[in-house]
Amino acid sequence: MKFFNTKILGTGSYLPDKILTNNDIAKRVDTNHQWIVERTGIHERRIADPSKDETPSGMAAQATLKALEAANLTPNDIDLILFSATIPDMFFPNSGCMLQHKLGITNQCPALDINAACTGWVYALPMADAMIKTGLYKHILVVGSEMTSSFNNWDDRNTCILFGDGCGVAILGRASENEDSQFYSSVLAADASKKDHLILEAGGACKRITHDVLEKNEQWVRMTGQEVFKSAVKTMASLSEKVIKDAGKTMADVDWFIPHQANLRIIEAVGQRFNFPPNKVVVNVDRYANTSSATVPIALDEFVREGKIKRGDNVLFAAFGAGLTAGAVFFKY
Ligand code: UT7
Repeated sequence: MKFFNTKILGTGSYLPDKILTNNDIAKRVDTNHQWIVERTGIHERRIADPSKDETPSGMAAQATLKALEAANLTPNDIDLILFSATIPDMFFPNSGCMLQHKLGITNQCPALDINAACTGWVYALPMADAMIKTGLYKHILVVGSEMTSSFNNWDDRNTCILFGDGCGVAILGRASENEDSQFYSSVLAADASKKDHLILEAGGACKRITHDVLEKNEQWVRMTGQEVFKSAVKTMASLSEKVIKDAGKTMADVDWFIPHQANLRIIEAVGQRFNFPPNKVVVNVDRYANTSSATVPIALDEFVREGKIKRGDNVLFAAFGAGLTAGAVFFKY
């Protein structure tokens, strides 16, 4: 059987225009800009406007058009859509199908949603890589698109300061024989013993939205911040170490580290553990906050478009999220 090396053919991202600053949030809850910056590194975040189709699938359509242009492909070249959304457009049809429609794809490519919360996009990558490697699909669109403002409780200062909306995508395909782009290694994990630390219970099959649920404000995200923080540092560090070792490389071989953008202190703690110089660690949490599973592909797209990440660079992704899920992927861009 012939195997192919996987290459990121093109990336794209979309951020809504509307900016919500820390001072804007401080008008509603008891917080302030200095506290938020010191504890999280976040200065501002973007907020989607569904009336402008800034929905998970709508933002993904905009980001995908940019990725298609970068990859020199057309919508009908996509033969599989893997769509990570913590809160999808709607329960069904899935957001992947909504995106297929918005892109005008007529080739009937399969389209499905993946929910691993903030780790969703990183979860989708090894799946896409395996299907490219074996030749099952040629051009897989991997989307992380999130409207966190739809689950954010704007009256809860413990969580509402953290999240923002946005989308990042990558198109994965085959590297040609004279190219050395490849996915070296990946590891995915979940520890459901910590499932209650980051949770949105209501709205699914177990707890429908009722007047009682709304009165108790159970339709919003709840989080035990410090537990998530500790677990994030530990798992992102250990999974990163594992993928580097599995690839037969060392931390010195990493050109760029793109961690999930949830909190600057988490990012710095992991980066320092590996002695990464700060200029190797990609950060944009200050501008966009935590866009859930979109943080890593947005950061990737920004750094590729700014010419910082170049072909041949070794890139390490690491993410964590509700579940608690976690994952790391190491590849040559
Ligand atoms: O994708 C995964 C998403 N989740 C995460 O990554 C969350 C990880 N956790 C965190 O980022 C941090 O735990 C937080 C930023 C959420 C909180 O920071 P912290 O340093 O862990 O603060 P804390 O929860 O220990 O709270 C310290 C104090 C408390 O007051 P007291 O009890 O010491 O009087 C809080 O009530 O800060 C208070 N506090 C705030 N004060 C001003 C909590 N939130 C705020 C706020 N503004 N927004």
